[in-house]
Formats: sequence, structure tokens, C-alpha cells
Amino acid sequence: MEILKIEQLSKIYGDGESAVKVLDDVSFSIQKGEFVEIIGPSGSGKSTLLHMLGGVDRPTRGKVFIENTDIHALNETQLAIFRRRQIGLVYQFFNLIQRSPSIRMLAKVSSCRIAIKKLVRRRRQAECLSPR
Ligand SMILES: Nc1ncnc2c1ncn2[C@@H]1O[C@H](COP(=O)(O)OP(=O)(O)O)[C@@H](O)[C@H]1O
Ligand SMILES: [Mg+2]
Repeated sequence: MEILKIEQLSKIYGDGESAVKVLDDVSFSIQKGEFVEIIGPSGSGKSTLLHMLGGVDRPTRGKVFIENTDIHALNETQLAIFRRRQIGLVYQFFNLIQRSPSIRMLAKVSSCRIAIKKLVRRRRQAECLSPR
């Protein structure tokens, strides 16, 4: 059974003179139970291909079928639901957390609160221990 099928997939980043064609008419299919490695030098387009297969970015041209669903024909909401239920992506780096200023800020506020709580606790302990 064909679990994944890619048809004439192309991805171009940017446009005009700065356009970079990273995927150029890629087609292949993977059967259920197959174990597949994508290998190539750094910058050759492995992550770009995975982003198209995982539905986290849209191809410039071509189609990605996962169990016969043309995932890039889905709208954003349908694709988000499909991704949540059908696809697992493990990132090389924790990009989503590192790049979020709000999460960084939250972490700072939390560690600040913990530090303040510790100081207050130490002060209370010191007050209890010191002779009046
Ligand atoms: N969001 C982007 N915008 C512009 N160029 C990109 C973007 N992502 C990747 N590229 C370029 O596409 C090429 C392939 O990158 P990538 O898919 O990350 O390769 P790999 O994962 O094989 O190292 C590189 O030249 C990279 O600079
Ligand atoms: Mg990569």
C-alpha cells in the first residue's frame, strides 16, 4: 500500500534575482512499512523536502499525497488537523521554543519568581533563627 506519494514537487524560495530553486520536479512514492533515509550534503534541500512532506510549508508546484489525501489541497485549518492526527515531525533543533520571545519572557518571569520566593524563604528562616 502506497502511504506517501510525491508528484513533481518544486520549491523555490524568494523571487526574481534572489530566487533559489531547492526542489526541482521531485517524484517518488513510499510503501507502508518501508524505512526511508533522505541523505545529501548540507544545503541540498533535505529539510525543505521534509517540510513539504510534513505539511509545515507549501510547495511552489507539485503534490504530496499521504494515504491518498492531497495535503496541500487542504486549507490551513484542515491541514493543521491533518498534521496533528497523521504526521509526526521531530526537529533537529528546538526552533519553536528558542525563537519565541513570549516563551523566553515567560521563562525569565518564572525564574525571577522562583528566585524571589527563595530569597523570601531564606530571609524568613534567618529571622526565625536569629536571636531577638
Ligand atoms: N526559508 C528559506 N528561505 C530562503 N532560502 C532557504 C530557506 N530555507 C532553506 N533555504 C535554502 O534552501 C537550501 C536548502 O536548505 P535545506 O532544505 O535547509 O537543506 P538541508 O536540510 O539539506 O541542509 C539552502 O540553500 C538554504 O539556504
Ligand atoms: Mg536540514
